[in-house]
Amino acid sequence: MKNIRIINAADYVGEKVKIGAWVANKRSSGKIAFLSLRDGSAFFQAVIVKSKVSEELFDLATSLNQETAIWVTGEISEDSRSKFGYEIQVEDIEVVGQSDDYPITPKDHGTDFLMDHRHLWLRSSKQHAIMLIRNEIIRATHEFYQREGFIQMDSPILVGNAGENTTDLFHTEYFDEDAYLAQTGQLYGEAGAMALGKVYTFGPTFRAEKSKTRRHLIEFWMIEPEMAFVEHEESLNIQERYVAHLVQSVLDNCDYALDVLDRDKEQLKKYTQLPYPRVSYDEAIEILQNNEFDVEWGVDFGSPEETFLAEQYETPIFITNYPKAIKAFYMKQHPEREDVVICADMIAPEGYGEIIGGSQREDDYEKLLEGIENFGLGTEEYEWYLDLRRYGSVPHSGFGLGLERTVTWIAGTEHIREAIPFPRLLNRIYP
Ligand code: 4AD
Repeated sequence: MKNIRIINAADYVGEKVKIGAWVANKRSSGKIAFLSLRDGSAFFQAVIVKSKVSEELFDLATSLNQETAIWVTGEISEDSRSKFGYEIQVEDIEVVGQSDDYPITPKDHGTDFLMDHRHLWLRSSKQHAIMLIRNEIIRATHEFYQREGFIQMDSPILVGNAGENTTDLFHTEYFDEDAYLAQTGQLYGEAGAMALGKVYTFGPTFRAEKSKTRRHLIEFWMIEPEMAFVEHEESLNIQERYVAHLVQSVLDNCDYALDVLDRDKEQLKKYTQLPYPRVSYDEAIEILQNNEFDVEWGVDFGSPEETFLAEQYETPIFITNYPKAIKAFYMKQHPEREDVVICADMIAPEGYGEIIGGSQREDDYEKLLEGIENFGLGTEEYEWYLDLRRYGSVPHSGFGLGLERTVTWIAGTEHIREAIPFPRLLNRIYP
């Protein structure tokens, strides 16, 4: 007899198998008992028919508490009534670990309660499905960049200077010096691109953001490719191919999870259609003004503006060439316009907002120095970064995709806190 995982049940119809699982839920009619089992790979139903098993086994099955760990033995059969399509006809149950008074019951719990029990909440079918999608996005990310000849390069988490801005830096001590938690791996990625050509960093990043929204985490993971000899347009082409690859991979490999989440697969398929529209910041302002948004050239867009702009199209869109004053110091100035930088944000459909921020980098030493000074950053800490413009500077571009924003969007879930196993949020560091 084989030990199998629930997700592979289809391959064992008619066979007797053994599965290590937890009891997620149970119900009984008196003559027949149903256990909802989960084993980490999927959830499915175990059926215990009173007339077919010993009284002892039936009593055991109906007395199992939620989250009791068991070994279950039985035959796999088809189950046309469930979306999953298979179940197990139980012949034996062996209790491995008892569970009493499991705090998360099938009734509705408030968000705070669930967040306090995140270590247990992760076991629910919805949270499980989101984690499967997160895993697939990570896998497909490495697949994409490795196939395209990028080298994965790890950037430091403890850093001596700001990577984006100084407003949301996490300060810490580094022996006798000041240090920060990295907001981005980008500046190190740029050094990597000059050494290795095409690199990507994939690591945790930290922002002491005081905002409590459904899109913001304090600790989130970012994928940041950086490419030497690559200008803006080519970078946009890579970004859209990458995102389409992520969506396609989830469609190909996460059928079960998408079903659990009731995600509209036809809708997701649309997001694999390239190219994604490019809308300049100037055009975006015009569209918004023509639709009664109170926006002036120079402002940054908030969630209502981004959502409205994305709703005008069927796929994610790029908003390009923002005003210099509202973007980071390292972005390359537009050759024909002093007040604009060569950059783009990718906005996801369905109100999920920005998932990528990217730009061509300023490769001119003097202009970069000026940018650092204008942003009020001390030039001393950026000497190493300026070296990249002193010794064989080349046009180069890169971007950062927020992993959790992307998971939230593709999984079609409400809030970013569900897209990471243990979210760090404003005023929350437990569990
Ligand atoms: O636009 P951002 O700030 O860009 C950078 O950090 C660049 N250094 C990237 C680069 O060019 N290499 O952030 C990039 C992405 C955003 O589009 C968003 O998806 C995500 O990171 N992000 C967050 N995700 C969750 N919580 C937050 N507080 C986030 N801030 C940014």
